[in-house]
Amino acid sequence: MPASAATSLGKTEDIEIRLLLDAIYLKYHYDFRGYAMASVKRRLNQAREHFNCRSFSMLQDQVLHEPALLPDLLRYLTVQVSEMFRDPLYFRAIREKVVPHLRTYPSLKVWIAGCSTGEELYSMAILFREEGLFDRTLFYATDINGDALRKAETGVYDLDRIKLFTENHRLSGGKTSLSDYYVAAYGAASFDKGLRKNTVFSDHSLATDAVFAETQLISCRNVLIYFNKDLQDRAVGLFSQSLARKGFLGLGAKESLRFSEHAERFAEFARDERIYQKRDGS
Ligand SMILES: C[S@@+](CC[C@H](N)C(=O)[O-])C[C@H]1O[C@@H](n2cnc3c(N)ncnc32)[C@H](O)[C@@H]1O
Repeated sequence: MPASAATSLGKTEDIEIRLLLDAIYLKYHYDFRGYAMASVKRRLNQAREHFNCRSFSMLQDQVLHEPALLPDLLRYLTVQVSEMFRDPLYFRAIREKVVPHLRTYPSLKVWIAGCSTGEELYSMAILFREEGLFDRTLFYATDINGDALRKAETGVYDLDRIKLFTENHRLSGGKTSLSDYYVAAYGAASFDKGLRKNTVFSDHSLATDAVFAETQLISCRNVLIYFNKDLQDRAVGLFSQSLARKGFLGLGAKESLRFSEHAERFAEFARDERIYQKRDGS
């Protein structure tokens, strides 16, 4: 194929993708238009193959006329990779550096944004139990993927993942045994219901929704990497509005506030673990 024909095909595909993302937004209010284009394109290509569509326009037609496909499509458009106490040093820093500040509050609100299937929520709940903060804390666990949220609400994980979770928990400075918090049966580990009794699970999009509570700690890890700069700014703007004075924001190892338009509202608190503290008066 001559280079000019390939370029024109690429351009046509880009137009189709924009139209497809517009269609998803207009029909279902899921807004992927501000996601990093290279990865959206890669994942939409996988979806196109899965749905047996020759082009993105065909996929658009199916998505518009068959709403039942949406959950399947969301599985392609969102990445559901998580683990308990993922990046254990992050949790160690929360435990050793952030918790002493949180202890000074009579009540706490913690927002796990982009909680996926719940591993990060249960990790934080266990850490808060170990540190004696659990009973005074209300957790919000939010995501746009309904299937992931439902799995988060059940708190059941494959038993073969528990070895890794246990090791992560130990490296995070865990003070108890992870096995205190789950019952193993039929190849699955079912986590203690009590761990989610103070949790509100909710469908919330960082791309389209507003702030819903004042919080003292927000953990949003491995989510902003999928957004373009404008959408990252929107999300960090929400976090800044939600955080109380001197509240904490934890990001993933691959994320930072370095190029954010809201960077000056935060001070670096634990640099390597990407934990920030909202500045006074911002
Ligand atoms: C890779 S997972 C991260 C899970 C967990 N935070 C962790 O670090 O292990 C990314 C999550 O972000 C969610 N997500 C993607 N776009 C979102 C948006 N606009 N608002 C809220 N969550 C979103 C996805 O559905 C997915 O569950």
